[in-house]
Amino acid sequence: MAKIAIIGGTGLTKLHNLSIVSREVHVSNYGEPSAPLTRGMLAGKEVLFLPRHGAGHTIPPHKVNYRANISVLKNAGVDKVIAINAVGGITNNMKVCHLAVPDQIIDYTWSRDHTFFEEGLEEVVHVDFTYPYCEELRSLIIKAAKQANVQIGEKATYAAVQGPRLETAAEIDRLERDGCDIVGMTGMPEAVLARELNLCYASIAVIANKAAGRGEGEITLDEISENLAVSHENVRKILEVLITEI
Ligand code: HPA
Repeated sequence: MAKIAIIGGTGLTKLHNLSIVSREVHVSNYGEPSAPLTRGMLAGKEVLFLPRHGAGHTIPPHKVNYRANISVLKNAGVDKVIAINAVGGITNNMKVCHLAVPDQIIDYTWSRDHTFFEEGLEEVVHVDFTYPYCEELRSLIIKAAKQANVQIGEKATYAAVQGPRLETAAEIDRLERDGCDIVGMTGMPEAVLARELNLCYASIAVIANKAAGRGEGEITLDEISENLAVSHENVRKILEVLITEI
């Protein structure tokens, strides 16, 4: 049974180095996940792949059924989740096309279903979220990046925003004052839902563009897609090493 899952983000609806064994439709108590789970072999190990925005990349960040996604992975026997998240770079050291492994999150999202613990409880549950990512998996990602010769930022505070619009320059200034290094729309509630179900969860953040007001002119979707295509090659290299090491 596959114990490792990869959640693909914007521009990563397929893993070219994954040889597909099956596609499985899973249902959850929380509705439909973004897509059927792809079961396949990567670097000789079985993994599950789930494209967060759907197989045809049609589900916007605020409409992703994060609870269904995390729940079907848990029910499929997964214990480690590697999330790939496209982000904008806020601070100077978060350069376009580089990768980072966030270690902290500030959640600015709203009105998303963000917990499994709300109905039919025997008692109220408050999970610890001091360190929102699984440190063991973060370290493995950093080690795998070094082995694969891919530069990676070892720490970053991720600002999870609602989207789907990009931010104003003033919002980015505020996020920087808050201590955020990168900004994306999908980090939450995914990370906390994984924590609620005791999954070891970490993210590879792919810096697709300079955040609003940090570069020249407007941010275009073409620019984001081009940069992601370049960086995803590096993500694939890291995953190949990482999967063999887990
Ligand atoms: N802001 C929010 N989410 C993003 C960005 C951004 O600049 N780039 C890619 N995802």
